[in-house]
Amino acid sequence: MEVVIAPAEELALLAADHIDKLLRRKPDAVLGLATGSSPLKVYDELARRHTEEGLSFAQARGFMLDEYVGLPADHPERYRNVIEKEIASRVGWAPEQVQGPDGLAEDLEEACVRYEQAIVDAGGVDVQILGIGTDGHIAFNEPGSSLASRTRIKTLTAQTREDNARFFDGDLDKVPVHCLTQGLGTIMSARHLVLLATGKQKAEAVHQLVEGPVSAMWPATIMQMHQHATVLIDDAAASRLQLADYYRQTYATKPAWQGL
Ligand code: GLP
Repeated sequence: MEVVIAPAEELALLAADHIDKLLRRKPDAVLGLATGSSPLKVYDELARRHTEEGLSFAQARGFMLDEYVGLPADHPERYRNVIEKEIASRVGWAPEQVQGPDGLAEDLEEACVRYEQAIVDAGGVDVQILGIGTDGHIAFNEPGSSLASRTRIKTLTAQTREDNARFFDGDLDKVPVHCLTQGLGTIMSARHLVLLATGKQKAEAVHQLVEGPVSAMWPATIMQMHQHATVLIDDAAASRLQLADYYRQTYATKPAWQGL
């Protein structure tokens, strides 16, 4: 696991640079897309490069991590619509180039199986962008999630619903109770994981992710078992790390030829 500690703007540039290089090397790359505020600066930078520098997403595809169950198709907080607004529409993606779990399906279990198959059919995810919840969840894999789980229905914790109420006029009752989410096993199948986290409220989750024991109580800790995981964090999110100085030194002396 590589840990990079830098200001938020720099982290976003690092992630965008990495995706830029991937797309130029492999134009039909498959990108794993996260919602939440953590990846927004990365999406802004990718959109800028698309518009100003001709970075092409024409052959690329995107797969979302998760979706609320039951939000109406036109609801602005439906993750499909959030991804459309934050990235897909800005890089010229047609609707069929981006897929997510169908939270409006009549048969939710079948929708989950279909989604897993769609990812496999696309050849798997090349780079999966991730954020992390304050309780250590990635996508919507809440504490207690099977470390081998695949896409399935989950119940959101009270903590996650409170964290996300800000997107629903601060009204907890408007936050859905259920979601469909890629499982931890699904996420682990991606070839490269890039997690972004900023702010003090993420410090404990980041400490557990990087330095805690692998445990379903802190689902993101499964990333310690991935061969290629990159954790991009600012000083505040790094504030509880025991080996922060070592990570800083490692990054400062990183060979120039080595990308993320
Ligand atoms: C939601 C999303 C996660 C995201 C998390 C953190 O729960 N399902 O994918 O990582 O929020 O969000 P933020 O980046 O806004 O802190």
